[in-house]
Amino acid sequence: MKKLKDAPPPIPGGEPADAVRRRLVFAGIATAGLAGCGGGSSGTHMAAESPPAPNVTAPTGSGWPSLPMLQNTSGPGQFSAALTASPTTANFLPGIATQILAYNGTTPGPMIDAYEGDAVRIRFTNRLDQDTTVHWHGLPVPASEDGNPMNPVAPGTSRDYAYTLPIGSAGTYWYHPHPHETTPEQVYRGLAGIFIVRSRTDPLATLPERLVVITDLRLDATGQIAANTATDLANGREGDQVLVNGAHQPVDTIAPGATERWRVLDATNGRYLRLVLDGGPMWVVALDGCSLPGPMAVSELLLAPGQRAEVVVRAPVTSGQKLVLRTIAYNRGAMVPIAPPVKLLEITTTQAAALAPITLPASLPAPPPLPMNLATAQTVVLSDMGMGMGASGTGRFTINGKSFDPTRDDITMKAGVPEEWIVRNAGMMDHPLHIHGTSFQLVASTRANIASDPRLNAFMDTVNLISGEQIRIRLRIDTPGRRMFHCHILEHEAQGMMGVINIAA
Ligand code: C2O
Ligand code: CU
Ligand code: CU
Repeated sequence: MKKLKDAPPPIPGGEPADAVRRRLVFAGIATAGLAGCGGGSSGTHMAAESPPAPNVTAPTGSGWPSLPMLQNTSGPGQFSAALTASPTTANFLPGIATQILAYNGTTPGPMIDAYEGDAVRIRFTNRLDQDTTVHWHGLPVPASEDGNPMNPVAPGTSRDYAYTLPIGSAGTYWYHPHPHETTPEQVYRGLAGIFIVRSRTDPLATLPERLVVITDLRLDATGQIAANTATDLANGREGDQVLVNGAHQPVDTIAPGATERWRVLDATNGRYLRLVLDGGPMWVVALDGCSLPGPMAVSELLLAPGQRAEVVVRAPVTSGQKLVLRTIAYNRGAMVPIAPPVKLLEITTTQAAALAPITLPASLPAPPPLPMNLATAQTVVLSDMGMGMGASGTGRFTINGKSFDPTRDDITMKAGVPEEWIVRNAGMMDHPLHIHGTSFQLVASTRANIASDPRLNAFMDTVNLISGEQIRIRLRIDTPGRRMFHCHILEHEAQGMMGVINIAA
């Protein structure tokens, strides 16, 4: 919090007009907010502010780390497997065993690779010393199978998660814990994995694929994962080093001119990834679990925590050239210094003869648009400015003025009936809103540049709202039950920025 001491005074009145001003406004007002909630009613583990760790940085430049695959023990049409969450150790630093939590012993967890139509049955065992769940982020699974905080798996017990992957659900998803209040800690200690659903008619199926699962890591002076600080709880945790498939700035080679599909996942608790690719073009072909209507060339792409994108990239045509994926500064309005730009990975072209460029299909299997002219069924207001801890139990992070209560239904809907929602970010920093069990269509935003944004009219399950932004989304949830919706900055989710949608049959 040192930054606050010399923060400028708040700028009175008016809506923040640009990024710099937004940051100043936030720094000013937040001083009061923090004083009001300094006691911290949160149930998450929180350490005292510790001095910055000395330079405990994992070595860079390892070969390409491919992810282990979750073994399917059934034949075609089914996906049966066993998944266990347990404490173990990892060697991020030479000679140091860092305590982590892992799915089947690795972080990130094993990649799940299944097909549309598959009947999935995953036997999950909890070997942690606390409750957990497995949530299938973005997948339209029945509410009972979605790993909601209301359905914990107790330590030492197992349960099956069983669901069918609907036709039309092909895309890039992920899985992670979703227990009440302890989700942030379980995720930053290592529990997260990518989940790919394939289509048998994928127009991009011939492209070689690369998985880019991004996590971040903060180690203390002894090489152990540092606990969340008050700053993390307020702003969302950002680790000190950003890992790709568990490795720090891995390198690889590629044939000159090669075209690849990269599936990129932001599995961090609170880090925004404003991605740029040096050395070649980049086309977005899917956001979260859904194809765009066609490939869209972009010079940069913002991923908020929880989001995925599929991009097609092309390597330079001469040998010894590099493709470098890196981040550039993004001001998310938080009361922390803007995360410094980082290099994520580096891929060098080989001596081989250049491959001919592959022409991308002009159209891709985007979901059909939802009906227009729907009446507004819900208005959802996100806030990060509650003053905390009243008798109402309402804390700083709220949706429609309320902190999460697992027993309360915040929104009711009817299964299979499309609705339009207005969502507004009345807070001071960006918040990525995520809705379980469906993908929604972003149809409008008050943001000035939305018309050129690949997200406009696209389907996604997580959408970032900047401070003051108001959007309209259309959504339909096909199966009944109680579903979560929340900010995907996990520290905000755990401190109350979550609600329940009850979908009636
Ligand atoms: Cu990825 Cu409710 O979460
Ligand atoms: Cu989810
Ligand atoms: Cu948030």
